[in-house]
Amino acid sequence: MLTTFLAGALLLGRAASAQRQSSLVHTLLGGSVVEDSSFSRNVSSCPGYKLSGLHETKTGLTARLSLAGPACNAFGHDVADLTLEVTYDTQTRLHVNIYDSANSQFTIPSSVIQLDKSSGNPALKENSDLVFNYESSPFAFWITRRSEPDAQPLFDTRASSLPPTPIPPVIPDDNSTALDGFPLVFEDQYLQLTSALPLGANIYGLGEVIASSGFRRDVGTDGGPGTIQTMWARDIADPVDQNVYGSHPIYMEHRYNETTKRSQSHGVFHFSAAGSDTLLLTPPSSPVSLVQYRAIGGTLDFYFFSGPSPQKVIEQYGALVGLPTWQPYWGFGWRRCGPRGIPLETMWNDIDLYHAFRDFTTDPTSFPANEVKAFIEELASNNQHYIPIVDAAVAHTVNATDVYDPYTRGVELDVWMKNPDGSEYVGQVWPGYTVFPDWFSEHATEFWTEALKNWTQLGVEFSGIWLDMNEVSSFCIGSCGSGANLSNTSVPFLLPGKPGNLVTDYPEGYNADVWGPSGNMTINGTLTYNSNGTSTTLSKRGLGAGGQKGVDLNSPPYAIHNGDGYLATHAVATNATHAGGVVDLDVHNLWGMMEEKATHLALLTIHPGKRPFLIARSTFPSSGKWSGHWLGDNFSKWAYMHYNIQGVLQFQLFQIPMVGADTCGFNDNTDEELCNRWMQLSAFMPFYRNHNVMGAISQEPYRWESVANASRTAMEVRYSMLPYWYTLFANASTYGSPPVRALFYEFPDEPELFGVDSQYLIGRDILVTPVLSPNASTVDGFFPGRGRTIWRDWYTHSVVNATTGANTTLDAPLGHINVHIRDGSALLLHAQPSYTTTETRANPYSLLVSQAADGYAFGTAYVDDGESVPPTPHTTLTFKARKGTLSIAAVGNFDVEQKLETVTVLGVGSNQPREVKLNGKKVDNWEFDEGVERLVVKQLGIDLNKGATLTWS
Ligand SMILES: *[C@@H]1O[C@H](CO)[C@@H](O)[C@H](O)[C@H]1NC(C)=O
Ligand SMILES: *[C@@H]1O[C@H](CO)[C@@H](O)[C@H](O)[C@H]1NC(C)=O
Ligand SMILES: *[C@@H]1O[C@H](CO)[C@@H](O)[C@H](O)[C@H]1NC(C)=O
Ligand SMILES: *[C@@H]1O[C@H](CO)[C@@H](O)[C@H](O)[C@H]1NC(C)=O
Ligand SMILES: *[C@@H]1O[C@H](CO)[C@@H](O)[C@H](O)[C@H]1NC(C)=O
Repeated sequence: MLTTFLAGALLLGRAASAQRQSSLVHTLLGGSVVEDSSFSRNVSSCPGYKLSGLHETKTGLTARLSLAGPACNAFGHDVADLTLEVTYDTQTRLHVNIYDSANSQFTIPSSVIQLDKSSGNPALKENSDLVFNYESSPFAFWITRRSEPDAQPLFDTRASSLPPTPIPPVIPDDNSTALDGFPLVFEDQYLQLTSALPLGANIYGLGEVIASSGFRRDVGTDGGPGTIQTMWARDIADPVDQNVYGSHPIYMEHRYNETTKRSQSHGVFHFSAAGSDTLLLTPPSSPVSLVQYRAIGGTLDFYFFSGPSPQKVIEQYGALVGLPTWQPYWGFGWRRCGPRGIPLETMWNDIDLYHAFRDFTTDPTSFPANEVKAFIEELASNNQHYIPIVDAAVAHTVNATDVYDPYTRGVELDVWMKNPDGSEYVGQVWPGYTVFPDWFSEHATEFWTEALKNWTQLGVEFSGIWLDMNEVSSFCIGSCGSGANLSNTSVPFLLPGKPGNLVTDYPEGYNADVWGPSGNMTINGTLTYNSNGTSTTLSKRGLGAGGQKGVDLNSPPYAIHNGDGYLATHAVATNATHAGGVVDLDVHNLWGMMEEKATHLALLTIHPGKRPFLIARSTFPSSGKWSGHWLGDNFSKWAYMHYNIQGVLQFQLFQIPMVGADTCGFNDNTDEELCNRWMQLSAFMPFYRNHNVMGAISQEPYRWESVANASRTAMEVRYSMLPYWYTLFANASTYGSPPVRALFYEFPDEPELFGVDSQYLIGRDILVTPVLSPNASTVDGFFPGRGRTIWRDWYTHSVVNATTGANTTLDAPLGHINVHIRDGSALLLHAQPSYTTTETRANPYSLLVSQAADGYAFGTAYVDDGESVPPTPHTTLTFKARKGTLSIAAVGNFDVEQKLETVTVLGVGSNQPREVKLNGKKVDNWEFDEGVERLVVKQLGIDLNKGATLTWS
């Protein structure tokens, strides 16, 4: 929370003087900035490269790439000598790495991200899914599927495959979208690589972003201008179409062949931490769309994944960067508000917990440590949990007598980021002047562990940690505290709710001037919704600020489209240095992920053997190994409820599946109707939390009767589904399978689904169709499968009479969220959802089987103790139905304590069974409902460790 988004209200600090320290050191503020005029700022004269010295290796090839003509020095200095390394890593993964032979560009060390290694199998050169093809002069390459050598390549950098240049700005008001040429450019501060895409390609990923186009990105053929996705971690309250907190240079393309009516997906990953723009554009009358990478550092290190299904692409990406961390069972509970029969799993504290906004403290007046301790212990005795916030920046002591151990201990252990001259880098965040942990420094993790441990000893006995402000955010430009009067702890932003920064906005359609601040749907019997009410404040603010006036184009010479313009705005300056001379310009995007890793390791030390639970704001590839994510400081607007879905889908692709939004909206006031719908939607998202900005009307679900009821209803479904969620997450941590899926992942050959992000699937089996607009009593949704799939209503079990290939309209009164079960599924459920996950788990199981037309159904459930770090005893249950038979089997070494009491089978046919048997013995306690073809067998008492067979005939 507590991001400020009042760009412009900046406090200008002293610009640090920059010095070139090593080949790694780039400079930003003043100092040795290279003259503007020495760069042509136009790539049309860039000569490209010539390949020579090709050498076949066991698993691929290497070659030398030499500059093919005079340097163009477009936005930096051309690197004359490159190395090309092609490795057939695995059957499904091809690695193409183009780097400077001198190795002076920054690359991400394996100590920071340990990627999966090549399998080393020489046979892959002849039989892997993907093929590397190239031309020598000018050097260009293209990637094809071995099975389809003549189809349009998956990735293709040949000029002949791209439209002729120069092309005037494709986005007319952004001159930087002029395409002057498509040569391979590799300069110290500018790298460019362009590939043709099929016209109107279906591209997903490249984030983090809140895309106005939805989950499917705008390539410029659907009426939109195209996309400029900037990778530059940024502390900003959820703007549309701009760079935000995290950087994920991975995309998936889903390609539909009109002739065969079949689709295949593949993935492309640029392994780089550099600030960059990725453009998705379609020049006028061009027969192809294109993707262009423009990076201000690093190398051209690419991985290609062959899929061919969307799920496989995501799994293959996970295998490379690391699979998501195992989540504790309690992590799926509901967070925040307690009373009135609404379940409560976890309480959270924002920075109001702190004393003087300092990390690792508690406020002596409002949160005395002994009371915090007692409160947490009481929570724990009720099987509840506590998660406090940790801000990224650590307060600097304000004078000689100020005692603040975390700062002084950090000095002792030498863990703070530095200025280029080696002095401490001092920025400014909520506590006033602050320092920033340098995760590259030798003792950083040790320091962080000690600070967190001290905090628990003080009484803050957290179960998990919430990491905020880790882009890393700083409110002033440069090392503004160096030489400043540190006792001044005022900051340039007012906290929300303070005079001068009151929270006055409401959701679309609610007019507080007329109705007052209650946010109620009806007041004195009158509906408050009015489509002419407060108009939405959402506006597309243009595609970034790179083209805006006042942006410093001097350094780096290519201005990425950072929404804040200047790279040091609202962030630690890019010339701040880390241990080993690493400059922040090169590693800015890694800060959050490195903090998440350090915190995860700290929690493993503090709670040995227990799965750490973390939620963090700024993420990078491999963050999922350490942490989950929330979708940042969103707004209490209907549009943001819709964006919630694309956000969750993106992070499944990014392999950070534990994700969700601040329900009911964070910034601005919410209202009853929005909160009602959103509490229900989020009950079907992995991470479920309601969180509000300071100074807004309160939005706990019990505040409105209707919201309390809607929340109870949806939470009951959520808690009964926990075994299913948990199994999906076990599969995520084991195989990288995404728990939440876009509809086309499961139905890849139905093009009408490719752009759908107003509905989604939980795993294979559960379809969620939420209401995303105010004043609605119905909702439209697709029922995928083109009539071959049977969908049954979660609540009534009746079969949906769905329109084939088009929308079906469903009833959706307030307080009801549409949830449907796919046929062919078998879902293990908790029979009696309770107040906490622990109590819920202590109750028996039930099983819901939804048979396909031929009687088939299948499902699995992964069961373990829900908290130990794997490897830990576990059991996998499988449920398999045929006409008239259900077989249950168990494999594993975990003792599944709870019995399976109830089995519900849907689709058993319209004739009442004559008898039902368990393991060959007749059972009597069953009911049959002819209308929904449902058999319910009760009081079974099945020991799931032993397996069982249930038959009906
Ligand atoms: C579609 O598939 C057919 C048959 O495999 C193939 O000949 C054709 O090239 C494909 N079309 C495209 C656009 O890739
Ligand atoms: C874009 O380029 C054109 C032609 O060089 C120039 O006239 C115009 O001022 C530029 N626009 C911006 C916003 O820089
Ligand atoms: C030093 O800072 C502390 C903490 O803000 C404050 O209580 C104290 O009065 C300050 N001492 C001096 C000498 O300014
Ligand atoms: C932790 O507490 C000890 C004992 O009070 C103190 O010496 C040390 O500096 C503290 N460490 C941190 C990181 O705050
Ligand atoms: C708004 O609704 C709540 C309960 O849902 C009620 O307690 C409150 O009085 C209502 N406020 C107004 C202004 O109608």
